[in-house]
Amino acid sequence: MSEPEIENLLSETRRFAPAREFAAQAIAQPGIYDEAEDFVEFWSKQAKSLHWHKPFTKALDFSDAPFAKWFEDGELNVSYNCLDRHVEAGWGKRIALFFEGEPGDSKTYTYLDLLTEVKKAANLLIKLGVRAGDRVAIYMPHIPEAVIAMQAVARIGAVHSVVFGGFSADSLADRIQDAGAKLVITADGGYRKGKALPLKPAVDEALANEKCPSVEKVLVVKRCANEIAWDESRDLWWDEEMALVDKEHVAQGFSAEHPLFILYTSGSTGKPKGILHTTGGYLTQTSYTHKNVFDLHEGQDVYWCTADVGWITGHSYVVYGPMANGATQVIYEGTPDTPDWGRWWDIVQKYHVNIFYTAPTAIRTFMKLGSKVVSHYDLSSLRLLGSVGEPINPEAWIWYRDVIGSGKTPIVDTWWQTETGAIMISPLPGITETKPGSAMKPLPGISAAVVDDDGKVVGNGHGGYLTITQPWPSMLRGIWGDPERFKQTYWSRFPGKYFAGDGAKLDEDGDLWLLGRVDDVMNVSGHRLSTTEIESALVAHPYVAEAAVVGASDATTGQAVVAFVILRRSQLDHTGSEADITKELRDHVAKMIGPIAKPRTIFVVSELPKTRSGKIMRRLLRDVAEDRPIGDVTTLSDTTVMDTIKTRVGLGAED
Ligand code: WT7
Repeated sequence: MSEPEIENLLSETRRFAPAREFAAQAIAQPGIYDEAEDFVEFWSKQAKSLHWHKPFTKALDFSDAPFAKWFEDGELNVSYNCLDRHVEAGWGKRIALFFEGEPGDSKTYTYLDLLTEVKKAANLLIKLGVRAGDRVAIYMPHIPEAVIAMQAVARIGAVHSVVFGGFSADSLADRIQDAGAKLVITADGGYRKGKALPLKPAVDEALANEKCPSVEKVLVVKRCANEIAWDESRDLWWDEEMALVDKEHVAQGFSAEHPLFILYTSGSTGKPKGILHTTGGYLTQTSYTHKNVFDLHEGQDVYWCTADVGWITGHSYVVYGPMANGATQVIYEGTPDTPDWGRWWDIVQKYHVNIFYTAPTAIRTFMKLGSKVVSHYDLSSLRLLGSVGEPINPEAWIWYRDVIGSGKTPIVDTWWQTETGAIMISPLPGITETKPGSAMKPLPGISAAVVDDDGKVVGNGHGGYLTITQPWPSMLRGIWGDPERFKQTYWSRFPGKYFAGDGAKLDEDGDLWLLGRVDDVMNVSGHRLSTTEIESALVAHPYVAEAAVVGASDATTGQAVVAFVILRRSQLDHTGSEADITKELRDHVAKMIGPIAKPRTIFVVSELPKTRSGKIMRRLLRDVAEDRPIGDVTTLSDTTVMDTIKTRVGLGAED
């Protein structure tokens, strides 16, 4: 964010006090911040609302910092907490999932239905040789079987690594190899934008030529009945196998520090990081925050989080937090524009959704389309709205509240990360007077500080880097296979503090305003992408000699990928136009990483701005990409290079 944008943001004066009726019925009540004074005691109390096969005696061990252990000598089973205990409490008939397929098919699962499916799936995994600690890759559409697969893996103490269905075969292969997955669970395809989008071919490609020797079997859910290739020695139909296994499975307890999942996310290098989460602390914080931030009244509310299971939001606020709380929720397979832009609001109306959680990029898209698309639907069931993934600008916040929330719903702007596992900074509805665009305060039991370059805490009215100053239950336990990188990335910049990678400012009241990433990580539509990873993909193409990628601000997607490339003229095998070349390069990035990483714009340039030590000055390229006056160029090895680039870019094609 540029200085003027920040100033603009901080001059926001609108305030929204909680409505009295909301506050009276809210789960979170005012004394809660005081109650959390002793954070270890506070989280220990929250953890006790889970079912423990063996109770823990010690809440936190941070003696091997930054590696934390929460509730370590306790034993629990995540799936038992999400399913069995609700059924045992007599809620077996309560609806757990309202599934809405994109083509219009729908299916309902009660807690008992889900438990039965998860038990069968657990038996199937065991039959296929999966044991506690083994890794299972999941590459699926957003359908109930994805939830069932994750819960089943968790149930037997294995570790899932969900790879978003929008990632390419190459990205899938990298992630399977890094985790050493034994089994892949996928589907023939999923529905997106009115079409069956095949998934199984990407798995075939990822596993071809013995690229992933750890994989023994591939389980395939039949979703679209699209034509797929079949390897008799390796592939199995989910349905056929599920019909053969036993329906009974007794969940056993595992240590609270037993691994639950790995989820890959982009960092500032070319190699994605496998973020590792464990069970007891993760389930404690995801369930506590889900209940308190979203004010979930289980058995009454219908909750809908639009995130795909392929992202951390889908893990924490679809599969684990809500289910641990016995919530009734909606999951929708497809895109918001299919068959038309009314689809989401039709779903809200159909299922009487009360609590809705989505990303600013979606809100801005609807805001641009105008209120008319929404006006055809009855959204009066909504009583709370949430936002996540990137800073939400005040206009979008106000539009969300006014148009989607009929001018009355509280809005919770929730800041967190794949690494934090659960919400860290957010208003509490019913307690916090909100400001449009601010995530407000750390939740009870969480401590954050904004620090300057030297790690000194800044005062109110000042900006700096966001850090977390005490361990929290759902914190990442490391990077899969790379403990050094974990320490280096998050704990070395400000000793003793977790460095989130975000810039933030404290206003005069001490409330937090998130200002976006300060590292080489971009945030496109709430999804994290690494500049370096896309640069590596570009230079892997024979046409490209050098590449620099920046995240430029974009009115809808927050940031957009903009690339500057220097071509190897000698390698061009056709005399196509520059537009042909940039199209080919964009497609190449989509093929290597996935369509989400496709640059919005590629500029062909003859030079890149570098410091004397050879580091690309992305700041200057960002100025170009955002069409601003170029900043300070004095540290460049060649100070004229920016003039050349500006002239070139003026001629460049944008698509
Ligand atoms: C990055 C984490 C957390 C689930 C989705 C993204 C940005 C996230 C907010 C927010 C401002 C936010 C940060 C963070 N971010 N939520 N409410 N306000 N920025 O998870 O892919 O791990 O990305 O998303 O920059 O570091 P992720």
